[in-house]
Amino acid sequence: MDTIAVIDFGSQTSQLITRRVREARVYCELFAYDTPAEDVLSINPSGYILSGGPASIYEENAPKIPEFVLESGQPILGICYGMQALAEALGGQVAPAQSREYGVAEIHVEDGDGLLELGSQPVWMSHGDRVEVLPSGFQVIASSNNSPYAAMGDPTARIYGLQFHPEVEHTPGGGEILRRFAVDICGAKADWSPSSNIPRAIRDIQEQVGEGSAIAAVSGGVDSAVASVLAYRALGERLKCVFVDTGLLRSGESAMVSASLGPLLNDQLQVIDAADKFLASLEGVTDPEQKRRIIGELFIRLFEEAAAPLKPPRFLVQGTIYPDIVESSGKDREVSARIKTHHNVGGLPADMDFALVEPLRLLFKDEVRELGRGLDLPAEVLERQPFPGPGLAIRCLGEVTSARLAALRAADRILTDELKSHQQTSAQAFAVLLPVRSVGVMGDRRAYGETIALRVVTTEDFMTADWARLPHDLLAGISSRIVNEVTGVNRVVYDITSKPPATIEWE
Ligand code: XMP
Repeated sequence: MDTIAVIDFGSQTSQLITRRVREARVYCELFAYDTPAEDVLSINPSGYILSGGPASIYEENAPKIPEFVLESGQPILGICYGMQALAEALGGQVAPAQSREYGVAEIHVEDGDGLLELGSQPVWMSHGDRVEVLPSGFQVIASSNNSPYAAMGDPTARIYGLQFHPEVEHTPGGGEILRRFAVDICGAKADWSPSSNIPRAIRDIQEQVGEGSAIAAVSGGVDSAVASVLAYRALGERLKCVFVDTGLLRSGESAMVSASLGPLLNDQLQVIDAADKFLASLEGVTDPEQKRRIIGELFIRLFEEAAAPLKPPRFLVQGTIYPDIVESSGKDREVSARIKTHHNVGGLPADMDFALVEPLRLLFKDEVRELGRGLDLPAEVLERQPFPGPGLAIRCLGEVTSARLAALRAADRILTDELKSHQQTSAQAFAVLLPVRSVGVMGDRRAYGETIALRVVTTEDFMTADWARLPHDLLAGISSRIVNEVTGVNRVVYDITSKPPATIEWE
């Protein structure tokens, strides 16, 4: 498998470079600029991309391009800070631009040298310093009104620099530029896909675990499902998979998870029915943070019990994915490689004597889904919406009782079914039971009932979100079904707040 290494100088968009190269079907990995040479060389890169970064190359302790990269004789592409660092290292000159250039600019290409398409194209600029004197052997391959050297290249050495960011959406032709670099200039074969990696991922798990045994906690979410099935393929009966039914799941969820994952794990999935225990420990609790703590602690206790019979050396399979890992320095990596603290389940105890197996640690979310398809996981698991670990406990505002959970579950089911039958898609859609009662009239009697809030949002990344503009008739139908079918609820409201300032969940 041919690969490209991205050397990270700390830009916010470094991971996006990796993504774009992988979209061109070339495997690519991000390495902090101070990663030891042997770690980077272990993937045997066909070329290097140097990312942008917040520093100025004239600052004291500004990060430098590793010597082994400059001496590799392989193609190099520097982006923004990466281009400035190249210019400086190769004998050119960099200086602060008269004005910071930030935003969309038009570049003009007369000779793109195989990297850039001829003509004009919009690109995203974000820089203070810029190259003023090209290193010898380099020529200008693109210019913009503000940057005479918007791109530079030395075709003989196959070293290039871009002042702009090809990895961001605002550079529509950027994916093609990175593809040309990886495939045409570095000569990497475009044959990688997340599922082409399955045999290697299985071998890696087998090597890591050796004669030991492993445990995996399935949450019903995509990442833990894919990680567990992969680990099962590698370890067979030496993997123990548990699914804790907290009683805080949505309607039909526990049955769905067992039915769809059980067969892929050769019916070795152990379902721990702990609904009564969770409900008992939540009795009388209304504070959301306390709910999270209680759920987290109980989860850990159940998990420890399940893990107790495992023979050492013991491993824990985790669905950590690439964006969970901070790659900016070796130290951060160490910190983030600790057991992922699902903010939901409070994290697993630090004194548990497990080594981690993280077979998805180098994949993005959509790549995990693709890998899952390669492992025959059903769409209903792979396409699931996010669901918080503490489950319905944090959507049941106020006290969590079995009657209130039942009302919430029924309302949530109606919402989901109606959206589905009207083919309305959304990033996330759920019901919330509010700790507010209000007056109503049901039949001829005055009622003092509970309130359901509906939350339906559109979002790409869940960091920001907007409320979905659902048709009024659809909302009317959902509301009418909820008040008619769900005992104790006499009012339904629709949440019309974006994130920020609100969050997606209510607690
Ligand atoms: P917020 O409410 O912060 O949520 O806008 C953003 C996304 O994260 C999910 N979420 C959680 N997921 N444990 C989780 O595993 C939690 O405690 C939790 N709280 C929020 C939420 O559903 C949304 O997709």
